[in-house]
Amino acid sequence: MVKRIFSRRSGIERGPNRLSAAVSRARADGRELLDLTLSNPTRADLPYPERELLDALSDSEALRYEPDPLGMLSAREAVARHVSKTQGVRVSPEHVMLTASTSEAYALLFKLLCDPGDEVMVPRPGYPLFELLARQESVRGAPYDSRYDGSWYLDLETLPASRTERTRAVLAVSPNNPTGAFIKRDELRAIADLRLPIISDEVFAAYSMDDAPDPRRAGSALELNDTLVFALNGLSKLAGLPQLKLSWICAGGPDDLLDEAWQRLSLMADTYLSVATPVQLALPRILRSHGVVARAIRERVRRNLKRTRRDASAVSPLRVEGGWYATLRLPATLSDEQWALTLLEEEGLYIYPGYYFDHVGPSLLVVSLLTPEPIFDEGMQRLFARVGG
Ligand SMILES: Cc1ncc(COP(=O)(O)O)c(C=O)c1O
Repeated sequence: MVKRIFSRRSGIERGPNRLSAAVSRARADGRELLDLTLSNPTRADLPYPERELLDALSDSEALRYEPDPLGMLSAREAVARHVSKTQGVRVSPEHVMLTASTSEAYALLFKLLCDPGDEVMVPRPGYPLFELLARQESVRGAPYDSRYDGSWYLDLETLPASRTERTRAVLAVSPNNPTGAFIKRDELRAIADLRLPIISDEVFAAYSMDDAPDPRRAGSALELNDTLVFALNGLSKLAGLPQLKLSWICAGGPDDLLDEAWQRLSLMADTYLSVATPVQLALPRILRSHGVVARAIRERVRRNLKRTRRDASAVSPLRVEGGWYATLRLPATLSDEQWALTLLEEEGLYIYPGYYFDHVGPSLLVVSLLTPEPIFDEGMQRLFARVGG
C-alpha cells in the first residue's frame, strides 16, 4: 500500500544500525561517551570572532529583498577574490553561484546533468551522504576506487571501467573524506580524460597536514579548461559555520557548455532562491575574518593526527594529507563493526567503523580530528591501552 503513495527516491532505509542503536542505548542509560566522531565545528570549542560575526550579520540592508538567482554580486565577488587568493585560479563572479549548502549544490548539479536512472561516479572510500543525495534525485552513485599502499592513490586502471552508458558526471573530492588524500595532477588528468562534467568538492582544501605538500598535488579542478567543472566550497568547513547555510559553485570550462549550463542552473536557482539575505551581505566580512577559525582547526587536526601515532602500537594510522578525518587500522581479530561495538561497550569510545565510508579492509576505523584535544587525547589513550602494543 505504502509503495503506491510514496516515491522510490524517498524510500530510504532509515532504521538504526547496530552501532547507532548501541550509542542511543548507552546515552539513554546515562553513560558518558568519549565521542571521537564529532564533526560539528560549533560544538568543538573553537575561537570564533564572535563580535565580528554578529556585526557582519546585522547589516540593516538585510531588511530589503532584492533577489538575484546567482546570489548578491558583492558576495559573488568576494568568493571570486577568495578563490583567486587561496587557490590561484581566476573565476569570474558571473560564474559563481551561491547555494544554501554544498548538499544543495549537489542536488542542483544532479538535476542539471542527470535524468532518473543516470549515474554519477563517486569516490570509494567516500563521504556517505553522496549516496543519499544521488538517490533523492533518482540518480545512482557508481563507485570508483582508491587504494592504499603507504599512501592513497586512485586506481587509474579500473577508473574507466566505472563509467557506463548512463554515467553523466564524476565527483572528485580533494582532499577526500575520509581518506584525507589530495588528488594528484595525473589523477585529475585521468578524471578529465573521462570527458564527463566534473563536480569538484574542495570543501577541505584549506586543511592540509603539510606545510610543504607533495609536489604532485593538483590545484583546484578549475584549472582544467577542456571540460566542464563545477567546484564546490562553502562556509561549513572553510569558516566552521555550517549553521549560516552558505556555499558556492564556481564553474569553468568550454564557453558554449558553460553558457548553457549556467543558464539552466540560474533558472533552477531562481525557482528556489534559497540563500538568505543576511548571510550574503555578511560574506565579504566573514571571508576576511575566517582565518582565525580556519587556523585553529588546521592546528588542531594536525596535533590530533600526531596523537594517533605511537611506536610499536597495534593501532596503525593510515597516511592523511588533509581534511578532518583519520583512518586507523586495528588488528584483524575483529571486524570494523565488532571493534566499534566493543570499544563503545567496554571503553565508552564512540568511533566510526570504516564500512560507513565503504572502506575496504576488515578492521578500519575512522576518527574525527576536529574533536576537542582533551577528549581526543583521552580517547586515543584508551584505544592504545585496549588494543595494545
Ligand atoms: C566531502 C564533503 N562535502 C561537503 C560537505 C559539507 O556539506 P555542507 O556544505 O552541506 O555542510 C561535507 C561535510 O561533511 C563533506 O564531507
